[in-house]
Amino acid sequence: MKINRFKLWAVAVSFMLSAPTFAQDGPNAENGKKLYEANNCGSCHALDKKLVGPALRGVHERRSEEWLISWIRNNKKFRESGDADAIKLYNDYGGAAMNIFENLTPADVLDIVEYIKTAPAPKAAAGPAATNTGGNQVDSDPTVKYILLILVAVFSIVLVVLARVRNTMKRIAAEKSPEDYPELFDNKKWYQRYLPKAMANWNPTVLALTIVTLIALPSSYFGYKYSITEVGVQKGYAPTQPIAFSHKLHAGELNIDCKYCHSTVESSKSASIPALNTCMNCHKGVQLTEKYNGEISPEIKKIYAALDYNPEELPGKQFGDNPNPIRWVRIHNLPDHAYFNHSQHVVVGKLQCQSCHGPIEKMEKVQQWNTLQMGWCIDCHRNTGIDVANNNYYAALHDKANKDLKANENHSMYFGPEGKVKITPAMNGGLECAKCHY
Ligand code: HEC
Ligand code: HEC
Ligand code: HEC
Ligand code: HEC
Ligand code: HEC
Ligand code: HEC
Repeated sequence: MKINRFKLWAVAVSFMLSAPTFAQDGPNAENGKKLYEANNCGSCHALDKKLVGPALRGVHERRSEEWLISWIRNNKKFRESGDADAIKLYNDYGGAAMNIFENLTPADVLDIVEYIKTAPAPKAAAGPAATNTGGNQVDSDPTVKYILLILVAVFSIVLVVLARVRNTMKRIAAEKSPEDYPELFDNKKWYQRYLPKAMANWNPTVLALTIVTLIALPSSYFGYKYSITEVGVQKGYAPTQPIAFSHKLHAGELNIDCKYCHSTVESSKSASIPALNTCMNCHKGVQLTEKYNGEISPEIKKIYAALDYNPEELPGKQFGDNPNPIRWVRIHNLPDHAYFNHSQHVVVGKLQCQSCHGPIEKMEKVQQWNTLQMGWCIDCHRNTGIDVANNNYYAALHDKANKDLKANENHSMYFGPEGKVKITPAMNGGLECAKCHY
């Protein structure tokens, strides 16, 4: 009896596990779409235009299923096996190699092909304006503002003229019947009419000093708070760059790793801005001519001009000897007396770029996300817990903390407000002046 029930369960479970395979006869476009996205095919391919690799729509008409399986799973091995079409394709693309995807089974590849086959065609061309990714959005029309300003000025003048007319009329009336307009004949100074009775008779010097003090104190406080301590603080600074390079597109949609371009960020103090040759790994091929009616994108032309590169020339002669480097506008910039090191934070501290730079992968134009003031550095050093157990840099502190906690000495300092053990950069000297100042 027992055994039977166990058997029943086993059959049921194995049926459930295999259900997906039963359910699916032919290739599955939905699964294909998932695989296409999960393997980042879209970072080099689009369905309807050439990016780094060819446009993929209709590829099943150009190539057989077996060909596609061999190519997509391991195009290198396939080329080395001597397939003429594969070798020609590779050479046509100037030796830009596609990745190897041996993680995909032949059935997976057919799912992807099914997705490419059945993906809906794009809507009729939206025109370059609709897909523009550059930083050149047009602001709302400024002439409207000017017209409003002029109108305000005209109305102010009309109001002043009307007020004067009214005063003159009043004076004419007062000459006829003075007793109706006593205020025109007392000898109060103009300001005395506006002050409370008690102050109106003060000595004018005392009065002036009092008023100046009342105004000066709060405004100098605000001046101090909001301007002096904020001198050189550039939070939100987002200059227009010489090429409309978009992090939203490259780091976000194309999902290129930050370190592919900012290649020294793990090994040195500085994150470095990539050389234009890094861009050319893709932009030799990606010229976006479909988007610009057959012309090369004007922004990409700037890269070519800066490198003195002529795509029309024969290979070997394309680079001239008159390059003219792009001058990117520097955004983040600590004063010279402060020392900041990227590798310390990214490798030792295991911090994400975004914890300091904000959601860069969503920014069309990079902007400074934090103040970069001393208080900002210190706050984070006080509050960020570190996984010290797996961190050699913290070995000494880790040992000491363990010992203290065992001996029940000094232990309260190791606890965060949540009552859990928490070791912060501050405890390891992260608040010492000399660590951050030369
Ligand atoms: C790093 C860029 C890159 C990635 C990622 C990439 N490809 Fe490619 N692919 C290429 C290039 C470049 C070619 C052109 C041949 C060459 O130079 O190797 C190509 C060629 C192809 C071809 C042949 C097209 C034709 O016209 O015959 C197919 C099919 C293809 N890729 C599918 C895929 C699929 C599916 C994925 C994702 C699993 C993928 N590629 C990911 C760069 C890439
Ligand atoms: C394809 C190359 C590329 C990729 C990928 C890339 N960047 Fe950049 N990054 C640049 C270029 C070029 C600049 C200079 C132009 C600009 O500011 O837009 C730059 C500028 C920056 C700046 C401002 C530098 C300054 O002047 O202070 C920061 C911060 C930054 N990138 C962070 C990131 C982060 C974080 C990622 C990943 C999410 C990333 N970048 C991915 C190329 C890249
Ligand atoms: C890994 C490949 C890759 C790298 C590296 C790369 N790009 Fe791109 N870039 C692309 C692709 C793909 C597009 C086109 C996306 C689309 O519109 O379909 C593009 C689009 C652009 C555009 C928009 C052009 C337009 O007119 O719409 C500019 C500008 C640009 N890239 C500049 C750069 C610069 C500058 C660098 C180097 C710092 C760089 N790219 C590095 C792949 C890359
Ligand atoms: C702990 C905060 C922090 C983290 C994490 C961080 N940065 Fe920075 N980043 C800064 C500061 C501060 C500056 C300004 C440095 C200076 O002016 O000396 C900066 C400057 C930059 C610059 C301008 C060039 C330079 O090196 O000065 C780039 C590019 C950059 N960061 C990219 C990155 C990338 C990519 C990552 C992730 C791999 C990252 N940053 C992680 C704080 C951080
Ligand atoms: C988002 C949190 C964060 C911010 C913001 C931050 N740091 Fe750090 N910092 C860390 C972490 C985590 C460590 C621990 C890694 C380590 O000890 O190397 C660290 C370590 C350091 C160290 C090494 C201290 C030691 O133990 O020897 C220095 C120096 C430093 N930071 C300087 C700065 C400066 C300068 C700034 C501001 C411009 C800054 N940090 C902003 C998180 C941050
Ligand atoms: C975690 C890093 C860090 C530590 C520790 C640190 N500083 Fe700073 N300090 C900075 C940074 C970054 C700036 C630049 C801030 C800016 O540009 O507004 C700065 C600026 C200053 C300034 C210039 C005034 C100002 O606010 O801009 C003085 C003075 C100063 N620090 C003194 C000290 C002294 C004294 C200590 C030790 C008690 C100390 N700092 C510890 C990072 C640090």
